[in-house]
Amino acid sequence: MDLLTDSFSFPINPFLVLIGATLLAFYYMPLNYWARRGIPHVSALRCIYQTLAVTLRTKSFHEMLHEQHKALEGHPYGGAYLLFRPTVILRDPELVKEWLVKGFAHFHDHVPKPDEKSSKLAGNLFALGGDRWRAVRTKVSPAFSPATVRFMHRTLEGCALELSSHLQRVCGAKSEAEIDMKSMAKNCAMDIIGACAVGVNCNALGDPEHCEMKPIVEEIFGITWRSSVANLLTYIHPRLPAWIRFPRRTPEVEQFVAALTRRGLQMSAEERAGRRDFLKILVESREAEKLAAENCGAGGASEDEDPVFTENIIAGVVGLFLSAGLENVAVTVTFCMFEIAHQPDIQEKMFDEIQAMKQETGREINYDDLKKLEYIEQVVNETLRKYPADGYMRRICTKPFKIPSTSVVVEENTKLFISTYSIHHDSKYFPEPEKFDPERFSEQNIDKIVRGLI
Ligand SMILES: *[C@@H]1O[C@H](CO)[C@@H](O)[C@H](O)[C@H]1NC(C)=O
Repeated sequence: MDLLTDSFSFPINPFLVLIGATLLAFYYMPLNYWARRGIPHVSALRCIYQTLAVTLRTKSFHEMLHEQHKALEGHPYGGAYLLFRPTVILRDPELVKEWLVKGFAHFHDHVPKPDEKSSKLAGNLFALGGDRWRAVRTKVSPAFSPATVRFMHRTLEGCALELSSHLQRVCGAKSEAEIDMKSMAKNCAMDIIGACAVGVNCNALGDPEHCEMKPIVEEIFGITWRSSVANLLTYIHPRLPAWIRFPRRTPEVEQFVAALTRRGLQMSAEERAGRRDFLKILVESREAEKLAAENCGAGGASEDEDPVFTENIIAGVVGLFLSAGLENVAVTVTFCMFEIAHQPDIQEKMFDEIQAMKQETGREINYDDLKKLEYIEQVVNETLRKYPADGYMRRICTKPFKIPSTSVVVEENTKLFISTYSIHHDSKYFPEPEKFDPERFSEQNIDKIVRGLI
């Protein structure tokens, strides 16, 4: 009985809303959208099935896009559906350039305009749109400059030494041990981004059980039941999760990032002096912006520009640093280890390159040397080719776009997907795509790769 009343009490049960909305939409949504326009497409029923499989988490989003990409074999682009919303799949790299670069005015946004008021983490470059994106980007970009990375290299070095002593501890006197690479890579990545993004020593490698930040960061962009259902709701209507108060993240996540940000904002100048992290840089940019605004105000100039470094924007950027750094880095490192474990000669060559560099300079490797480790870069590139961490790109149409040499118009709010995974695994562009071969990126071979493919 309790169960029954529970699910019918307020707030509205999201699952019931979902079922109701799905049924309604079935009646009202045209599922022959692409057929009517004469565009090659994946059948609506198949797409609906795929979307539901993604929601039930039996299929990943990028697997779905890979299947749709393959189903459109022979066509440079085609139509598909997310649940019953028409989407466009771009397949041909040349066309990708044409649409996204020449057609930038139509496709500059990633996601529908977020509500910066309701979601504290919406203020990141991924989620912002149009003019706001441009304003924030211009001011946040310097935080990613080579000078900043150079300045952070010492922080990274500390984490690398920590990893090395951790391995020695684990392997012990026998010099060998069975290690879960993915979890080790993840803990190590957590320590690095904790230190680089917000100046916090997480000690995830040393003490993974007590790293408070890890589960939170995993949730930001991770795929959970909550996020899968919230995504499905957005396919029905982008604002539906907000209307029924079903955010894709638990409130704790935003609270955690907001608290981190606030702590950063309250740092005194002395506290900041010794730190080497992005939060410090963002806080300093905020002070510089405030100072500029005051000077401007005193000089009687108009204050036509909104401040960019608001607390929410800083929280959004911090949230993005944390989440984008964790999974992507851990997955890339894990796959790289997996491949070189299978091909010891590659591992040997990487080792030799490092030793040769150390012998040549007579010291430890520093930031400038890193760029000269060409073979290692080839291995990293080949890892990202075979296992692109994100797997796809997405854009949203913000201004109707006429498809060149047809009379078909991509309507506003249509989503556009490019499966980078599928392109990287197409033998037309990368012969023997399943083979892990760093030589694809060697000086002699790199010109054979179509530009813009990676
Ligand atoms: C690796 O990929 C990056 C990004 O595409 C490129 O700039 C770089 O030249 C590549 N390096 C090698 C050694 O192929």
